[in-house]
Parts: sequence; structure tokens; C-alpha cells
Amino acid sequence: MAVRRFSISIDEELVEKFDEFIEARGYNNRSEAIRDLFQNAIAKSELSDPEKPAIGAFGLVFDHSKHLNHKLVHEQHRYLDEIVGTMHVHIDESRCMEVTVLRGTAGKIDKIADKLSRIRGVISGKMIFEAPL
Ligand code: NI
Repeated sequence: MAVRRFSISIDEELVEKFDEFIEARGYNNRSEAIRDLFQNAIAKSELSDPEKPAIGAFGLVFDHSKHLNHKLVHEQHRYLDEIVGTMHVHIDESRCMEVTVLRGTAGKIDKIADKLSRIRGVISGKMIFEAPL
């Protein structure tokens, strides 16, 4: 991939803060850090379009003693085109965590994640990673 160099003008104080930021994050140089910031900003902008294809990892924690496994599986079977797969982890005697990979339009996968989060008995649910495709 061709690399283009360009210069930018920024207040000195902001550059000092940025240098502290990139050192704390472990970047090797400003270019790496700026590239990441650009990519994140563009991805965020693309995901704001509900029609844009996207992939996401949705995590939720729930109490399996409340017969939630059945409800969650039932709900997940309603979205065969969007739900790629789920990993189930037993946290302790009562709590479980599931990470579900969703693929579809950004709007649809967000709606599915919201719907799963709102099932009664779900302790917490959140889209933990989302990227445009
Ligand atoms: Ni479990």
C-alpha cells in the first residue's frame, strides 16, 4: 500500500498531551497513533449508517438458574442469518457469559443485541466490538 506523507499544524500543548497519550498506549511513533485514530473515526462514522454491513461481538452475562438459556437460544434461532456463533462460558454456580458474533447491517445487529440485552434476567449485555465490512 502506498504511503502518503503530509504535515499538520497543531497547538504545542496538544502535541505534548498527544505524545504522552501515545507513549502510555505503547505506540512506536505518532504516525502509528494517528493512523489508528483515523481508522477508528472512519469506522465509527461508517457504523452510524444502519444500512452499512458490519460484524460485531456481543457479550452478555445472565443467571442460568432463571431458565434463561432456553429463552436466549430460542431468541437466537430467530436470527439465523445474522448470528454466526456463540461461545458460552460458565462463570460460577449461577452466572454464565455468552459472546455472540453477529453479522449483518449495522442497524440490524444493533437491534438484535438490544433485544437480547433486554431479555428479563440478563444481568448485563453490551456490543463489545463492532467493525464495518
Ligand atoms: Ni453456563
